[in-house]
Amino acid sequence: MGEDALEGNQPSLVPSAPLHDLAQRLIATGEGRLVSGLLAAVQHVHALVAETRPSADEMRAVIDFLTEVGHSADARRQEWVLLADVLGVSTLVEDMNAQRPLGATPNTVAGPFYRADVPETANGGSICRDGSGAPLRVTGRITDLAGAGLGPSLVEVWQANGAGVYENQEPDLQPEFNLRGRLVTDSLGRFSFHSVRPKGYRLPDDGPVGRVLTGLGLALERPAHLHFRVTAPGCQVLTTHVFDRSDPALARDAMFAVKPELLADITPDPDLAGAWRLNVTFVLAPLAGHTPQPTRGRI
Ligand SMILES: [Fe+2]
Repeated sequence: MGEDALEGNQPSLVPSAPLHDLAQRLIATGEGRLVSGLLAAVQHVHALVAETRPSADEMRAVIDFLTEVGHSADARRQEWVLLADVLGVSTLVEDMNAQRPLGATPNTVAGPFYRADVPETANGGSICRDGSGAPLRVTGRITDLAGAGLGPSLVEVWQANGAGVYENQEPDLQPEFNLRGRLVTDSLGRFSFHSVRPKGYRLPDDGPVGRVLTGLGLALERPAHLHFRVTAPGCQVLTTHVFDRSDPALARDAMFAVKPELLADITPDPDLAGAWRLNVTFVLAPLAGHTPQPTRGRI
């Protein structure tokens, strides 16, 4: 990093004296990711201030808001993560770090409700542990980029119930691990399970982040979806969503995770009145320098 770091990174910004001095002090500490990242952050903050010219009262309001965000974060709730989510930063970071080749199912953020300690459910079994909700039978398969089945693969699934609530949000009302599954596919990558049709939900709006955004008229909606994480030998782990194509909130997802490839049709079950079906295919990308070996050819 050289003397012209400011000009090189932000040619339109005329450095203020404090910015110039701080940059020189940072550069003097040595090169490295922390120094370059901090310098970039400082440059952008100075540019933001120069552009918006906040009053002293406005500056105090910003500091009060950020202070409240910090006070609202604890072991059960991470308001900073929520702020990154609703500003689209979480998905931006995920997209940059989880590039997939053409044809592979896109990766998305896992969201705050993933649990790794879910007991295994038999392939074909039920993940609904309270018998509540409109029945949904999910069938699916795991393939490589050429369409060949990958199995046995591990499929983890978690979802909200028919009221849009996750099991760990109301532990007194829903059984432990309700609507969470951990299944192993057959040798052709096929799996199925019984569940209930999920409903969309709203991100928490009782903290400073929700209060500011809902005050602006933004509803923090999440369209109905199921979360999946798929692990197969020789492949990049896939963490993704499957969204209900019929949900009118698709264009307003507060976490910006909706992608055309992740929309799916939940259709009436012809064999059971009031029940639904969903079929999904997840296409996994190989690990760098690795060619997955399909077990028995194409599905
Ligand atoms: Fe979710």
